[in-house]
Amino acid sequence: MKTVKNARRANIVFIVICSAILLVLFRAPRETTPKLPNDSSHKSLLTLNDNKEAERSCGDCHGPEGQSPLRSDHPPKFRCLLCHKAQ
Ligand code: HEC
Ligand code: HEC
Repeated sequence: MKTVKNARRANIVFIVICSAILLVLFRAPRETTPKLPNDSSHKSLLTLNDNKEAERSCGDCHGPEGQSPLRSDHPPKFRCLLCHKAQ
């Protein structure tokens, strides 16, 4: 009888943990990363066959000397297009 009770308790613990994980996932905040603007300076980059190739040009404008430098508290900056998706 003891083992049946333990198995039932293990099932309940399992269900509680799964519910907790689901709850955390459903309560995750909405995605807030800004998308790439839908303008010519960004559109033309995305027609390159390779994201890594496109990312080499981002720094021309978004580097410290560019026209639109990143804020100093910008998250880690490698592989721009993994976070910034096209619209
Ligand atoms: C020719 C210059 C230029 C290049 C190259 C460029 N950008 Fe931009 N980018 C801008 C300018 C100027 C703005 C701000 C005005 C606007 O919305 O277009 C901007 C805005 C953005 C924004 C939106 C920021 C916001 O607050 O909504 C993101 C994201 C972005 N760029 C990412 C990139 C990435 C990633 C690349 C490389 C694939 C890139 N940019 C290449 C000039 C450029
Ligand atoms: C790890 C994900 C991630 C990567 C990689 C990334 N970004 Fe961002 N970027 C963000 C987030 C999130 C924000 C919004 C920050 C905020 O509003 O506090 C942002 C904001 C921006 C902005 C708006 C201006 C600013 O500084 O807040 C531009 C432009 C931008 N990113 C360009 C780039 C470029 C160019 C690269 C590659 C060199 C890049 N990002 C790589 C997540 C990322």
